[in-house]
Amino acid sequence: MGYQAKFRVWRGAGRPDETITAAEADGALHDYEVEVNEGEVVLDVIHRLQQTQTPDLAVRWNCKAGKCGSCSAEVNGKPRLMCMTRMSTFAEGETVTVTPIRTFPLIRDLVTDVSYNYQKAREMPAFAPPPGVEPGEYRMQQVDVERSQEFRKCIECFLCQNTCHVVRDHDENKQAFAGPRLFIRAAELDMHPLDAKPDRKEFAQATQGIGYCNITKCCSEVCPEHIHITDNAIIPMKERVVDRKYDPITWLGSKIGRR
Ligand code: SF4
Ligand code: F3S
Ligand code: FES
Repeated sequence: MGYQAKFRVWRGAGRPDETITAAEADGALHDYEVEVNEGEVVLDVIHRLQQTQTPDLAVRWNCKAGKCGSCSAEVNGKPRLMCMTRMSTFAEGETVTVTPIRTFPLIRDLVTDVSYNYQKAREMPAFAPPPGVEPGEYRMQQVDVERSQEFRKCIECFLCQNTCHVVRDHDENKQAFAGPRLFIRAAELDMHPLDAKPDRKEFAQATQGIGYCNITKCCSEVCPEHIHITDNAIIPMKERVVDRKYDPITWLGSKIGRR
């Protein structure tokens, strides 16, 4: 049976345009009553709101199947994919508040500018097999494929980046911190038997700012793909960097090697 749900949705932008008045431009939460039918998710209701009351509501989405990573938002303050958040998880009289993810600059309404993540991805050196290996010459062992398979499930929803306290309210840290999504990419390449250089652990330490991470695990908690970001990527990368720096035998070896 359908019912009328109470929705509170963030409307506004960093700049006024013809659909958002100057007064609204800074943004505010607006209340709506919207029809909900059995089996629907939050994104269905946002779409119905757009169809029936707010045709100018900006919202990013694509697959409606939890696979494109586009519909990230904060639902009742929790980072979520709107297309994977069932309306049945809320009581019928409950107000459902939908706001944009907050770590990235707001474009308008529920849409943010996530280019920080792409910029950090571009800064990472690409996969680099040793010279002379031709396509088809190398066969990966199944065990090597499986080791990093978990990290390839990432759908780039950036909910982990949005949640990490290092950048969530600290724009000033973005320069020096690549964030959990990029740490799993570094770990994935680090586990690749053919990735010769650069040293991904050293890069994570020196350039990606993995040292800023104090292992709060908030990123892992919000990942819709249930990737063990902290336990399986960040902690092993950190441990091995620490081992290298402080292990006396490794230290001695690096000194002798430099002579
Ligand atoms: Fe999203 Fe998880 Fe990928 Fe982070 S690691 S971008 S939370 S899928
Ligand atoms: Fe941030 Fe995840 Fe580390 S939330 S502090 S990157 S464990
Ligand atoms: Fe693709 Fe939600 S619309 S993940």
